Amino acid sequence: MKTELYDSILSRCEGAVYVFDADVLRERTAKIRAAMPENVSLCYAVKANTFIIKELIGSVDRFEICSPGEERICERLGVPSEMMVISGVYKTPSVIEKTVADKGFAGTFTVESLLQFEQLCEYSQKYGSNIRVLLRLTNDSQFGINEEDIENIISRRTEYGNVEFSGIQYFSGTQKTSVKKLRREIEKLDAFLACLGEKYGYVAKELEYGTGFPVSYYEGEDFDEDDYFATFSKMLCGMKTKVHITLEIGRSIAASCGKYFTHIVDTKCNKEQNYALCDGGMHQIVYFGQYMAMKRPSMSLYSKAPQGDKKWNVCGSLCSMNDIIVKEAPLGEIEAGDVLCFNNTGAYCPTEGMSLFLSRDIPAVYIISRGKISEVRKAFETCALNTPDYN
Ligand SMILES: Cc1ncc(COP(=O)(O)O)c(C=O)c1O
Repeated sequence: MKTELYDSILSRCEGAVYVFDADVLRERTAKIRAAMPENVSLCYAVKANTFIIKELIGSVDRFEICSPGEERICERLGVPSEMMVISGVYKTPSVIEKTVADKGFAGTFTVESLLQFEQLCEYSQKYGSNIRVLLRLTNDSQFGINEEDIENIISRRTEYGNVEFSGIQYFSGTQKTSVKKLRREIEKLDAFLACLGEKYGYVAKELEYGTGFPVSYYEGEDFDEDDYFATFSKMLCGMKTKVHITLEIGRSIAASCGKYFTHIVDTKCNKEQNYALCDGGMHQIVYFGQYMAMKRPSMSLYSKAPQGDKKWNVCGSLCSMNDIIVKEAPLGEIEAGDVLCFNNTGAYCPTEGMSLFLSRDIPAVYIISRGKISEVRKAFETCALNTPDYN
């Protein structure tokens, strides 16, 4: 059934294509929810993949939005404003002003800096709007603000009549395989929330926590996700502060729903090395931690049953020697016209690449859901010159 859908999509595409499977996505969010303590909420960090937002509206509680572009996509797809967390280290002032001024906006803003806080307060006073904020605690990087800054704001919270301080946001990195690291973070956050209570009588309603749950992409990685989730869930239950937890995650929700298909367009043997050239490339498929095809992601020949185990270096279509996607893949007998399928490409893969390098076309995006195909984006040609008069 799924194969028919994939075949149908491939028959419509000349070039590489991304396909996201919303059935897999729903199963994935259900699995994460089932593994976590009962009343934990899920916030999807849309940067991981903006094409699947609509499919997630019924499965997650919130969407974390980090740019005006992400906000535009969410608005167009009908994400209710109460499900929006407007986040990000740079919040374009005009967009923030417009959002704060909108009395119908019922979402939350994160506070990433003292300047952002000033701007939010200024706009909320100017327009007489009530706003809800999460103060982002830094992880010793350019993101968020220090503990002392948060304490200072919380100690003076009654001065900001229009502002509801709903709690703390914290994110410290992605692909966190170490439960020990998560334990340290949870202990730190728990102690900090307790300190805000003891020192300032402030009871945070909410902790929005970006856990950076990991995804296994490569052959040979053995990661027991069930055990990891069970340990993490227990750690959350052990927190002393009884704060509502929202998990803010992207990769772990989105990765497994994606497949990337690329056609082999040429084959050759240079100096005893077999090369399969394909119409995609490293500008369109980025796996976390992948560099010069040092590791082998989950991929296979799609168009026919494999014959033999002849090995191929799979290269993309960029004029760059770096554009090797897989080394020595045992694909067997292949020829131009065959199709390769890369798995686990639902998070970041389609957007983190340098897609304008070589000015190649941007691939189409399709979603399959409950037996149906939706075209989400047509493939399009790129031309970086967008002024009409410069020729
Ligand atoms: C603030 C914030 N939250 C959540 C995420 C999502 O991280 P992940 O995809 O590892 O879950 C990111 C990723 O960069 C982030 O910056």
